[in-house]
Amino acid sequence: MRDCIAVELARARARTTLLTEVVDDADLTRQHSPLMSPLVWDLAHVGNQEELWLVRDVGGREPVRCDIDELYDAFKQPRRDRPALPLLPPAEARAYLATVRDKVHDLLDAVAFTERPLVADGFAFGMIVQHEQQHDETMLATHQLRSGPAVLHAPAPPEPSVRVGAEVLVPAGEFTMGTDTDPWALDNERPAHRVDLPAYVIDAAPVTNGQYAAFIADGGYTERRWWSPAGWEHRVREQLSAPMHWRSDGDDWSYRRFGQWARVRADEPVVHVCWYEAQAYAAWAGKRLPTEAEWEKAARWDPTTGRSRRYPWGDDDPTEAHANLGQRHLRPAPVGAYPAGVSPLGVHQLIGDVWEWTSTAFDGHPGFAAFPYREYSEVFFGDDYRVLRGGSFGTDRSACRGTFRNWDYPIRRQIFSGFRCARDVRPDESYR
Ligand SMILES: [Fe+2]
Repeated sequence: MRDCIAVELARARARTTLLTEVVDDADLTRQHSPLMSPLVWDLAHVGNQEELWLVRDVGGREPVRCDIDELYDAFKQPRRDRPALPLLPPAEARAYLATVRDKVHDLLDAVAFTERPLVADGFAFGMIVQHEQQHDETMLATHQLRSGPAVLHAPAPPEPSVRVGAEVLVPAGEFTMGTDTDPWALDNERPAHRVDLPAYVIDAAPVTNGQYAAFIADGGYTERRWWSPAGWEHRVREQLSAPMHWRSDGDDWSYRRFGQWARVRADEPVVHVCWYEAQAYAAWAGKRLPTEAEWEKAARWDPTTGRSRRYPWGDDDPTEAHANLGQRHLRPAPVGAYPAGVSPLGVHQLIGDVWEWTSTAFDGHPGFAAFPYREYSEVFFGDDYRVLRGGSFGTDRSACRGTFRNWDYPIRRQIFSGFRCARDVRPDESYR
């Protein structure tokens, strides 16, 4: 376990380093969008959380620097105010991260993985690995908002190798949602519990650019009937007329990703849409967004054994063949590119590519208990946030499971968010 933790810590740090070394100090300290922190804030915040949880709490060691705790407390400092704070300059932030990491390696050699919940199965280390990787995805989203020439480069994702059908019918019945056993699963993924669902139909793949462009061409953004009242109000106020980063070129669309314009590709999942846009598209298509439970059953339920898998393809950790994760490619992969990642029911690309909006407001599973602190997820429970599932091309495999839950405001689209649709079963459809 020590070796595994050391590898995961190093992988996260290599990614953080890449994301913060490809730009100069001015770019690191600038705020690229009021929605995002300056990159240098994320950088030192990653080190500060690692110090708080591992060096001080697990290790019981002397603080490295307690004078900066307040500056890097995400709850005390709203994102829009962060550029005005007396933040550590880039060189100092890097030195701080290195000092903290040295101490963590020290304590990793010595720590006893006792029954204490914070250290059992290396949980606190896993939490810190996931935290850094989550901030890396946030920093990747900041890169997408940054203007100026491209600094990030990656090969294109694989081409489609199978034809994917339109929809899959999921039979009625109970399945196990959430987990008790995944050692690094976070509090909001627990506990495992049985959920009974009526039969439903879910899209076999995320909604593509081509499908979304048809919605736009059919007046999707100008016809109020497809939108919820709150969604319409938001659309009008923000003058939304296409996904974020899209530009109309006559009959075609282009899409600016990480500083480069590219033609929108019809068979790629649409990304950078908010929950309201997803909901309007679904209404136009005669469908709806899946509930979170419907998403998870489609992703995990194995009809042969009746049990829920860790991932659509089984219990093994993701490989490059299963899913488009970890910033290996800087965009979603076309539909049909990951046949090895298909779920037992035949649903594709649930993991990776784009975070998928669900209709469900963020709340605790029945029997939820906050761990190790309320601020991880409990303070966000309620009607303000909608759940997203499955991870994106910018999500690391350590922070992505069949049970992993993300949440955001229904107006947000700077994240790598897309969706798929679902619908009720029609009376004329048979159950097989
Ligand atoms: Fe954080």
